[in-house]
Amino acid sequence: MGIFFAFNASCFTLDRMWPFLRNLLFQIDAETTHRLAMKALSLWSTVASTQFATNDLSRHPSLTRTFFGLTFPNPLGLAAGFDKDAEAVPALQRLGFGFLEVGTMTAKPQEGNPRPRLFRLPEDQALMNRMGFNNAGAVVVAKRVERYRRQGKIVVPLGVNIGKSKSAALEKAAQDYLESFAATADVADYIAINISSPNTPGLRDLQQEDHLIQLLDAICDANQKRRMPRPLLLKLAPDLDDVSALSCAKIAVDHGLSGLIISNTTISRDGLRSALPPGSGGISGKPVRARSTAMLRLIKEEFRDKLVLIGVGGIMHADDALEKINAGADLLQVYTGFVYGGPKFPSHILRRLYK
Ligand SMILES: Cc1cc2nc3c(=O)[nH]c(=O)nc-3n(C[C@H](O)[C@H](O)[C@H](O)COP(=O)(O)O)c2cc1C
Repeated sequence: MGIFFAFNASCFTLDRMWPFLRNLLFQIDAETTHRLAMKALSLWSTVASTQFATNDLSRHPSLTRTFFGLTFPNPLGLAAGFDKDAEAVPALQRLGFGFLEVGTMTAKPQEGNPRPRLFRLPEDQALMNRMGFNNAGAVVVAKRVERYRRQGKIVVPLGVNIGKSKSAALEKAAQDYLESFAATADVADYIAINISSPNTPGLRDLQQEDHLIQLLDAICDANQKRRMPRPLLLKLAPDLDDVSALSCAKIAVDHGLSGLIISNTTISRDGLRSALPPGSGGISGKPVRARSTAMLRLIKEEFRDKLVLIGVGGIMHADDALEKINAGADLLQVYTGFVYGGPKFPSHILRRLYK
């Protein structure tokens, strides 16, 4: 009971203010708002405490999960793309996330696509982005994570999401991923292999059987040669048809991967009500929920406990989180729901998951 009182008291002020603050922030261009938020979070990160109160809901024992040798204080993680360069890990874990995934990072730094490249679609509770893996490069980000670790500032599992550099040809993709893998594997609790973002030309072709086998052969081989192999997870697109999704999952199982992250953004525009900005981009948030949950359910039914499944895509409310768990998600991630729901969003979801 006490845990609810403590939780409610701390939520009260921010919860009351968030709709006003959000209205204000939503007047500003979406990427600028994100940069402002990241600035604030990275400043907070310099002083954020790693101690959690004993009555902190995000640390309640009933929420603890253990998968692929890692203990997650709770099952709700922050999805890749929010903190691409690991600039705000201590502050983000402070907000209650049970794990964080930084990246996508690439072998060398990249500018990403020209702006504007991030848009809000409020009528659809969605975002559209074509960021194109803007990031500081795997070596720089790995050094940043290593520094946090030395300072004892990371107290939740930290995944590193790696992707293909824009300049790398498809035939050279494995070599390119291996470079990022080598730079980051020492500092990552798990590695997420991203073959599903729609904003890097050719990337999603890596989901085709031959390409995927070749890529996973290379990464798994390098991983097995390490003194401490890392858990590897594969992130899929919701636009795969069922047969292709099952085939990717089977290849993941055959390669001994720990799990799948289902899913990335969609290129589908079905059912959207908003006037869309011109140009391409991946849609996240509510419109991706149904397909991403259906894919999760399909893979769970087929592979059961052979793969740990991280359910991501369209968790905008606590009920959506429960729906993913009922469909077979072992862990959850959010991005767009956090943008719309604000800093207390993790606590709202966790309150519902708390038994
Ligand atoms: C602005 C933006 C940037 C993203 N960048 C990445 C990325 O770099 N790597 C990645 O694997 N996923 C990226 N994603 C996808 C999210 O991690 C997530 O899979 C997707 O948005 C679905 O979850 P959501 O509906 O909770 O947002 C990005 C999403 C958004 C909205």
